[in-house]
Amino acid sequence: GAPVSADISQMQPGQMLTVNWRGKPVWVVRRTPAMIEQLAALDETVRDPMSDNSTQPEYAKNPTRSIKPEYLVVVGICTHLGCSPLYRPAPNSPDMAAGWRGGFFCPCHGSSFDLAGRVFRAVPAPSNLEIPMHGYLSETVIRIG
Ligand code: FES
Repeated sequence: GAPVSADISQMQPGQMLTVNWRGKPVWVVRRTPAMIEQLAALDETVRDPMSDNSTQPEYAKNPTRSIKPEYLVVVGICTHLGCSPLYRPAPNSPDMAAGWRGGFFCPCHGSSFDLAGRVFRAVPAPSNLEIPMHGYLSETVIRIG
């Protein structure tokens, strides 16, 4: 499949954009400084904090799972059985468990992921959400694939 590009020039902090790539949803999330900062505090509660057993390009195998910490680019397909999780960016979102700090929730069997797509412990999904090949064509355009 051909690469696709995403124009991120209009994205507000906290916003998510969905791009279709090879029939898959790819999400671009513009993370706020607060969203980025709290990731390190979750290292103990996620299953694969350093993404050793997850799929991503080498340049995204880092604490924010990204090229630029501000932008997460991730395949929006649950690594359990392929449902598409929901974006729940707000801490203490009313439909999430107490202590929720923002991330993604899969309604099919209850897997949840942080704002780097890292899977929490004790849920069915075995690994972090996949990070696709991507790069920056300019400051405001991301190429996916
Ligand atoms: Fe997401 Fe099962 S498909 S938890």
